[in-house]
Amino acid sequence: MEKFYVTTPIYYVNDRPHIGHAYTTVLADVLARFNRSLGKDTFFLTGTDEHGQKVQNAAEKHGIPPQQHCDETVLRFQELWQKLGITCDRFIRTTQEEHKRVVREVLQDLYDRGEIYKADYTGWYCVGDERFFTEKDLVDGKCPECGREVTAITESNYFFRMSKYQDWLIDHIKNNPEFILPSFRANETLGFLKKPLADLCISRPKSRLSWGIELPFDTDYVTYVWFDALLNYVSGVGYRTDDEKFKRWWPASCELIGKDILTTHTVYWPTMLKAMNLPLPKTIFAHGWWLTGNQKMSKSLGNVVNPMDMIERAGVDAFRYFLMAEMSLGNDANFTEETFISRYNSDLANDLGNLLSRVVKLTIRATGGTIPEISALNDDDKELNAAVDAAIAAMSSSLENYKLDQGIASVLNAVRAGNRYLEKCAPWTLAKNGETERLHTVLASAATALFKVAVLLAPVMPDKMSELIAALGGTGNVPGIAELATHSGICGWVMKDVPPLFPRIIEEKAETAPAPKTAKAEKKAKAAPAPQAGLPGIITIDDFKRTELRTAKVLKAEKVEGADKLLKLEIELGSELRQIVSGIAQWYTPEEMVGKMIIVVANLQKAKIRGVESNGMLLAAKVGDTLSLITPDKDMPSGILVG
Ligand code: ME8
Ligand code: MG
Repeated sequence: MEKFYVTTPIYYVNDRPHIGHAYTTVLADVLARFNRSLGKDTFFLTGTDEHGQKVQNAAEKHGIPPQQHCDETVLRFQELWQKLGITCDRFIRTTQEEHKRVVREVLQDLYDRGEIYKADYTGWYCVGDERFFTEKDLVDGKCPECGREVTAITESNYFFRMSKYQDWLIDHIKNNPEFILPSFRANETLGFLKKPLADLCISRPKSRLSWGIELPFDTDYVTYVWFDALLNYVSGVGYRTDDEKFKRWWPASCELIGKDILTTHTVYWPTMLKAMNLPLPKTIFAHGWWLTGNQKMSKSLGNVVNPMDMIERAGVDAFRYFLMAEMSLGNDANFTEETFISRYNSDLANDLGNLLSRVVKLTIRATGGTIPEISALNDDDKELNAAVDAAIAAMSSSLENYKLDQGIASVLNAVRAGNRYLEKCAPWTLAKNGETERLHTVLASAATALFKVAVLLAPVMPDKMSELIAALGGTGNVPGIAELATHSGICGWVMKDVPPLFPRIIEEKAETAPAPKTAKAEKKAKAAPAPQAGLPGIITIDDFKRTELRTAKVLKAEKVEGADKLLKLEIELGSELRQIVSGIAQWYTPEEMVGKMIIVVANLQKAKIRGVESNGMLLAAKVGDTLSLITPDKDMPSGILVG
């Protein structure tokens, strides 16, 4: 069986996981899930980098032993990966005994074979990057990687004879175009290799740093943290501890990294492997950075969101989807709340979610929910099938070429083809005219397209796509892409009416209030399909019940500084106190508001409006220049359910 072994960098344990760590790990997870879906034997390794100066410093600051510090901070990563549905086969920690033993054995072996020697060394050390630089590496006397101050240090240390592998490495990169991807990164490494390569200092005297793996041949030293960390990729799959396992997985198919750690992975690591007589990974893929803080973004948005907040706000699968669809692999991408919400609403709420709810509602009306049989295909049906087949092909090739965003885009094309297909074939008209056979073919074809789309997107949105397949009447596991060709089809499955898979996210601006609609916004609203076309504008009682309206009493009110339309209200809902922000300041003074009984949407996702937290939305009606709050017309306690 073909195998696929994917790794992420092991992250510094004392960092707070952020969107960058989440991105690489979700990407690895998506690749792992895709390869499993394609029927490949897959292993996915991630973990944490736990030795080194930064951990030692942080532990000292907290006044606890470094191991305890690691044991505490590692949970942040493990909990986040669990939340994000990361299916790693192993989470490796470099403080695990097994890993430490492997590092010591490798060091001893290299030392015994003369690959490691002792010498005096003067260098410039950057604490932030935990790296030594030579004089000529420095840029304006500062760290060439991060621009921070460096410290001059002279000491005796141990060195790995990296320089002797320089020509071999250049040849390997040139002869193996898929070794470093994207190819412009291979050129970057080749550029670096134009200068003579120095030997690599792989030790730190304990007098300066004690938190590391002791050198087996000199107990005054610990191992340089990068030498220790890189070895996780082999120790994680049984190197020197489980030969069978190691033979099964090594060399890695794909080592994912960010472009910040290109040199360590494309120069140190391959030369280490060469000295160890091990084959090199097939591909080291360096992706770009997520940028979040640029000036332009904060200006146009009015506030800067923490990307991780979108997990709470839009759900794990939508977050995974955005990361995968938005970043074209290899380049940088910008994370803004605006692009997140707009992509979510257009791709997921409108295109995909809408297709599902239309197909389910129409089928329930036509057959009671049973997916009918497909009869003769006409050109419209064939066009839809072709769009789906194209998506299947594009997805597989996008995996091989590391162009995941393009594969996803072609699946969304198939979804849009599905919506166009419904418009064109108009099953509601077929139903009215009693054209049952054609109606059945259209409904079953659209449902089948959706089913295949769900299989294709399941590695990106595992939970939502399994819900989608359940709504179509499928039970149990989501089939793999490899199984699609021989799948017996979904005719006969019985659909279930479900709440919207991806409820629209209302942008904060719209939440604050009755902002006057621009002509453009109005046009956009008209162009968007009705929430459940087929039954335009009609919702069920269950749809309505999803909105929790409650009476609330205003306890305090004040203006929001710098926003003349907004009032910040402290409200009481029964025993609960909350804060909401509302765009009513032009119509109500804070004094008028205090003591009023209002109606609020109580289960609205929390939002920040002009940087102020708002937990709910009040109801008001507006006509022309007049705005009126909706209030109960009898005395009522607060917190009472309205409906
Ligand atoms: O470098 N955008 O760990 P680290 C995208 N321990 N990805 C980002 C990112 C961003 N803005 N910021 C970080 C280390 N990343 C070493 C690795 S491996 C043997 C040792 C991701 O915690 C990206 O994958 O600094 C980057 O390479 C990695 O986090 C760095 O994580
Ligand atoms: Mg870093």
